[in-house]
Amino acid sequence: MKIDGKHHQSIWINENNEKLIQVFDQRLFPHEIKIFNIQNTDAAIFAIKEMVVRGAPLIGVTAAYGLYLACLEAQKESNPDIYIEEIARKLAQTRPTAVNLVWAINEMLRVIHQGKSVEEKINIALQKANEIKKEDIEICFKIGEYGLFLIKKIAESKQGKTVNILTHCNAGWLATIDWGTATSPMYQAQQAEIDIHVWVDETRPRNQGANLTAFELNQQGIPHTLITDNTGGHLMQHGMVDMVIVGTDRTTRNGDVANKIGTYLKALAAYDNNIPFYVALPSSTLDCSIADGIKEISIETRDQNEVKYIQGKVDGEIKSVLICPETTSAINYGFDITPAKYVTGLITERGICKASEEGIRSLFPEKF
Ligand code: MRU
Repeated sequence: MKIDGKHHQSIWINENNEKLIQVFDQRLFPHEIKIFNIQNTDAAIFAIKEMVVRGAPLIGVTAAYGLYLACLEAQKESNPDIYIEEIARKLAQTRPTAVNLVWAINEMLRVIHQGKSVEEKINIALQKANEIKKEDIEICFKIGEYGLFLIKKIAESKQGKTVNILTHCNAGWLATIDWGTATSPMYQAQQAEIDIHVWVDETRPRNQGANLTAFELNQQGIPHTLITDNTGGHLMQHGMVDMVIVGTDRTTRNGDVANKIGTYLKALAAYDNNIPFYVALPSSTLDCSIADGIKEISIETRDQNEVKYIQGKVDGEIKSVLICPETTSAINYGFDITPAKYVTGLITERGICKASEEGIRSLFPEKF
């Protein structure tokens, strides 16, 4: 999608150096648009762990390129396979909740092992990482087409009046490669000239809604309004939200959804107010090896300082300020689980299904 009117993707290979992967440093958005170089596996691990890149699909693609870099580094190793496995293990440990990470690593290892020499492994890894990236773009586009159908239906029922969509966190092009998952239907609705407006949850503590989703929508010219995380319920009670679309980091075979902390409360409020609550996801986010999200999904806990401090721009400089007594301790859960019963439907690249084993099986039988 666009930055200053020019099309961009969230990750790319440097045009003059095939051994250099580049991304936007998402820790600085929207105040600075700076490129971050991933020139080795340490940088790939750092980028995922420190959230230079974030969002389940982009984490997966970054790990895929990280393994390509591991193959390049393995040229200097006495046992290349052990080295590549070790990097795969380190990459897998960077963030525990998004299943796309492990999915992409497994996809990469499967093909890398087929290479007989290190040179062959390098070529195979580069090709596969490019393929995973390309597929993600196509998948997100498809998700948008199916999601557009839902928005169109609401627009028709409202006789062309503005469709108000609420979203949480950033499941946009910056969380994927292009289009996004939750935002793809919004971008396609704009192209179809449907009148939409998006309520953007700020998404404490790291404010991906305020920093990233608001940035994306602003660049794309989609009408939106930033709200505090606690405002959604009030808007829903007053008929100001027609539908909710969020992303997910892992969805179980019975349709339980892990997503950014606070998603569950939006789903509860939507349920109480009879507002459709949709989850947009690529099939790489499905984890059909588990059923019960609350019991079986590992929820990332991050540094307490992300809660105690807030980052913003002051006098032209990006700064962090303390928002509580210095000695107060905080806890920082990154994600929560929305039980399947609160999810109206899953918007996938193969269509929309119920958030249930039966629904998921009907679209993705090979996952079981
Ligand atoms: O901690 P983040 O910023 O990686 O969390 C991102 C989300 O929760 C997204 O909603 C999810 O990864 C889906 S992105 C298409």
